[in-house]
Amino acid sequence: MDITQLQKEVESFDLSSPERRIAFQKRFLRKGGVLDELFAALRTLPPELRKEQGKALNALRELAQARLTQAEAEERHLSVPSRTPVFSDPSFPLIRHEAGGRHPLSLVESRIIYLFQRIGYLLAEGPEIEDDWHNFEALNFEPDHPARDMQDTFFLRPEEGILLRTHTSTVQVRVMERSQPPIRILAPGRVYRHETVSARAHVYFHQIEGLCVDEGISAADLKATLEYFIEGFFGANTRIRWRASYFPFTEMSAEVDVGCLLCESKGCAVCKHTGWVEVLGCGMVDPAVFDACGIDAERYTGFAFGLGVERLAQLLYGIPDLRLFGQNDLRFLQSFRGYGPIA
Ligand code: DAH
Repeated sequence: MDITQLQKEVESFDLSSPERRIAFQKRFLRKGGVLDELFAALRTLPPELRKEQGKALNALRELAQARLTQAEAEERHLSVPSRTPVFSDPSFPLIRHEAGGRHPLSLVESRIIYLFQRIGYLLAEGPEIEDDWHNFEALNFEPDHPARDMQDTFFLRPEEGILLRTHTSTVQVRVMERSQPPIRILAPGRVYRHETVSARAHVYFHQIEGLCVDEGISAADLKATLEYFIEGFFGANTRIRWRASYFPFTEMSAEVDVGCLLCESKGCAVCKHTGWVEVLGCGMVDPAVFDACGIDAERYTGFAFGLGVERLAQLLYGIPDLRLFGQNDLRFLQSFRGYGPIA
């Protein structure tokens, strides 16, 4: 068979449809095709012709393969919609890749954790569904203690004392039950109270509990630690006010207010027109709590504190209404996009 003739055929073969391309493959590229036969016939040629004929056949096979590949690529190209208009039309709307952001409560929580981890606090956790022992009894709320009324409780199974925890102080108990001093823990979490939802109160909110127990811990350590925290969180010149208070699980007990940052202490709804906002409760751990948890109250002393995360976020970011934290309104959430946890 004449190779020049075959080459012409390869070059002019109609490859415009899948059927035509299969026919082409059969004729030139597959087993049993013309080229296959010619390659087989090489052996019958005298050696001096064989080399030249072999070369010519290889070239022809490459040509056939190249034509087929080219035809298939053209076909694919035609079936892909052209992207040119998107890039050549300057009025085409920008394709924006929306980046998510962190929730302000999560930002505030990270910031608090960062400040306490720097001074050696470890994280601890406890369940949101609790029992009377961990929420009240071990924390020195006697069964008829009037202080139980301080916190309106959601009971899930009242007869068994199963409830939604009203504070993260439960985690103090859980940690002390299973470990011995030195203890320095921070326990962030959600808590629940039976309240009417308003700008100032919600049925759930977030607290961070802190506990430090060791030999020789004093009220001076408590004060220094919390002032370090407030200054780290709000800045060095924040106005701080200590007030004596009462909690069943601490003796002495105190609360800390900071000068209202929303109105610069001129008076607004958030500070109830007093110029001050309460941000935490604290005190020296009552020996009765140590007794309940199996810690030697003769040997150890300690302090505890509870921070309100929403309250701190309100002050830090100037958020007037508590309800905004739980509504997932994108206009609110997007205003925190790009904030880092330690801003
Ligand atoms: N558990 C208290 C509350 O929810 C806050 C609190 C006060 C926690 C004093 C403490 C503390 O650890 O020492 O109101």
